[in-house]
Amino acid sequence: MSDSGMREEHQPPKGKLVNLRTLWTFVGVYKLQLFLATVFLLIAATTVLILPTAIGRIIDTANSGGGEDGGQGIAIFFTTIILVMATATAMRFYFVSWLGERVVADIRKAVYERLITLSPEYFEENRPGEIVSRLTADTTLVQTIVGSSFSVWARNILIAIGGTGWLLVTAPEQMRYMIIIVPPILFFVVYMGRRVRKLSRSSQDKVADVGVRANESLSALNIVQAFTQEKFESRRFGVHVDDAFDVAKRRIKIRAILTFVIMFLVFAGIAALMFNGLQSVSTGKLSSGEMTTFLIRSIFVASSFASLTEVYSELQRAAGAAGRLAELLTAESTIKAPKNPIPLPKTMKGDIHFDHVTFHYPSKKNIAALIDFDLHVKPGETVALVGPSGAGKSTVLQLLLRFYDPQSGSVTIDGIDLSKTEPTEFRKHIALVPQDTIIFADSVAENIRYGRFGASDEEVRAAAVSAEALAFIEDAPEGFDTFLGERGTRLSGGQRQRIAIARGILRDAPILLLDEATSALDAESELRVQEALEHLMEGRTTLVIAHRLATVKKVDRIVVMDGGRIVAEGTHDELVAQGGIYKRLADLQFGSSTA
Ligand SMILES: Nc1ncnc2c1ncn2[C@@H]1O[C@H](COP(=O)(O)OP(=O)(O)OP(=O)(O)O)[C@@H](O)[C@H]1O
Ligand SMILES: [Mg+2]
Repeated sequence: MSDSGMREEHQPPKGKLVNLRTLWTFVGVYKLQLFLATVFLLIAATTVLILPTAIGRIIDTANSGGGEDGGQGIAIFFTTIILVMATATAMRFYFVSWLGERVVADIRKAVYERLITLSPEYFEENRPGEIVSRLTADTTLVQTIVGSSFSVWARNILIAIGGTGWLLVTAPEQMRYMIIIVPPILFFVVYMGRRVRKLSRSSQDKVADVGVRANESLSALNIVQAFTQEKFESRRFGVHVDDAFDVAKRRIKIRAILTFVIMFLVFAGIAALMFNGLQSVSTGKLSSGEMTTFLIRSIFVASSFASLTEVYSELQRAAGAAGRLAELLTAESTIKAPKNPIPLPKTMKGDIHFDHVTFHYPSKKNIAALIDFDLHVKPGETVALVGPSGAGKSTVLQLLLRFYDPQSGSVTIDGIDLSKTEPTEFRKHIALVPQDTIIFADSVAENIRYGRFGASDEEVRAAAVSAEALAFIEDAPEGFDTFLGERGTRLSGGQRQRIAIARGILRDAPILLLDEATSALDAESELRVQEALEHLMEGRTTLVIAHRLATVKKVDRIVVMDGGRIVAEGTHDELVAQGGIYKRLADLQFGSSTA
């Protein structure tokens, strides 16, 4: 496992085909809708191509004095055509849009399902804000491909190709002009499209930057304002917005040039055709109805070619987005269950063993956070980790939860190497009260119940009581149903921490990890929560981290850490007698009379 941290950098899939293939895996599932959409697309395109013939017939019928049946036949023909055309178009719209919405919903779910299992390392390398932007902005772009662009593109291709063929057969002479015009158009479309795609991708990146910045500064509004950095933040945000604009400007410039060239070529071609057609009518080679049919059809064909460019660059843009989503979908977690994970017993004793563990964080390759860390915690034992800030105490818990793998040595629970079993399984046996309290934008009850979703209201309440949280919860406007705001902004730091403790208590797991769990509490609440926690620790294996030594004085064993190493071990009295860091800390906290 030692080199699993050296993850290869993911190269974004560049080719458009690759990206669209990713999409296909999502679209291909809906065969029925896809089939219906295709059928209606074909019908609609065909009717569009027949329509000019109907119009031409009407004109010729009118010119010949209304025909034998007074134009009834042609009227029925015409009405049928437009009825079929309208129906088929509407149906195509329905199924194609349905596909677009469905596929995007599926992609969002798939991406999220992937993201939520990735290791913390991934989010250290990739900004979560940017990823959220991909989840929303890029999927919306993809929706335009599946839900519209692609079908418009297919329709236009059908009309362009079908119409050209039809024209070649019915008016080969006039088609000379087309042959001159079409190749340069196609060349332009392909060449420029490629550039548009590149710019589009960087445009999306820039837009993501904008989102990330706004998100970061707005969620730290208090800090921004307390340090009066509003102007600075506005300027910094402005730079990102203008960056995004600059890239977008380059993209639309290319689009504008493209539009000019295509439009000019297309309409010049039509003008030439018209001129030529008029001559044919005056020499009697064509009827005016045939002439009209030809003209309308070639306008349809020409505008299909023209809009191909528009849609093509849309497609390119969306292909860029699909590429970024494909990256997320294929992101590999560095923390994975092995092929044949060792099954865990139903109940775990909670025997923890760090066997000569050396570990450095992926982003800090030169400094080890733990060096030859060797610790055995027997089932039911309570061990306190103390030591200066940055000593590696929280890191021990991170490894025990297998958020990272050590570079050497191993971490086992009940003799099972964590890297050889399913992470989601053994984590069920661990309750964590983390150093940084996390509160979700949900009610008090749901936040506590996050520890164990099956818990009854009574159990939630009991956990709140043990965590000394009941008083303030009952004071809140709606008690346990009170909404806590995003990140728990409606609570004080100590209140947040008590919710987190209640969550940990409710978890009811054989292994309890407390990382500065009571650091934000007042002395009185701390004392009472401490009692509740001591009660909770009975019969569980507990690792407790604390700066305030008073809270760990009574534990079975205290492990003193410094610079990623264990420097001393023993009971409070033993450690004080030994001298060293612990005694120094104890003297500072209890006064030098301790010894
Ligand atoms: N995600 C991370 N990426 C890189 N380095 C990290 C990361 N988390 C912690 N570190 C580094 O690892 C070392 C140990 O950190 P750790 O959080 O374990 O310290 P600690 O003993 O819990 O400190 P404190 O008492 O301040 O919480 C520190 O030098 C820290 O800078
Ligand atoms: Mg810590």
